[in-house]
Amino acid sequence: MSRRVAPSILAADFARLGAAVDEVLAAGATVIHVDVMDGHFVPPITLGPAVLGALREHVGDAVDLDVHLMIERPDRHLEAFAAAGATGITFHAEATPHVHYTVQAIREAGCRAGLAVNPGTPPTVYGELDVDLALCMTVNPGWGGQAFIARSPDKLRRIAALLAPGTELEVDGGIDTSTAGICAEAGATLFVAGTAVFGADDPGAAYRAIAGAAKCG
Ligand code: DX5
Ligand code: ZN
Repeated sequence: MSRRVAPSILAADFARLGAAVDEVLAAGATVIHVDVMDGHFVPPITLGPAVLGALREHVGDAVDLDVHLMIERPDRHLEAFAAAGATGITFHAEATPHVHYTVQAIREAGCRAGLAVNPGTPPTVYGELDVDLALCMTVNPGWGGQAFIARSPDKLRRIAALLAPGTELEVDGGIDTSTAGICAEAGATLFVAGTAVFGADDPGAAYRAIAGAAKCG
């Protein structure tokens, strides 16, 4: 599977979101990561379907919008994010007792279904169902700019062994030019980078450097 870097708008200037996204699209990005936080599953509150819809309108149909729900009861909100233009919707295994149901509901809403696990959650859930995307958190969810958890590559290997061929394996948190390569070697195919991209003086150049470190095609 081809590898891609997904810049996370969490680290962008929300007052000029369209321009920030344009910079990384011009540098070659084809997927944008959108972090949704509800103030319950994680303490911060970020954005909802209205902002996602505005982003979809801005980027057109050719760009993937990779929506990462860090919210309780994700099943209540799937339709709204799908209607707003999500390409894929990823929810947390810790956020609902209805993991299998929610995967099916995401697909029925017309999106690719992703399942995320926190650093302290064992990867065994991936042996119980098929998903389109597995998201291994490489920091604790809620904030950008945290340090990559060093034992993550070992967990990535264990997750990769449980996934059906063709399943995307995403890493999120602390991804930069020093960590992307080791995640790629451990099987990651989609690399979320927030601070390392939008916190850089030249986000386009930073995007390209991380894509190079991750050996994206
Ligand atoms: C954290 C979010 C991440 C965040 C990553 O909870 O899920 O997507 O944007 O930020 P960095 O790349 O700064 O670690
Ligand atoms: Zn995220």
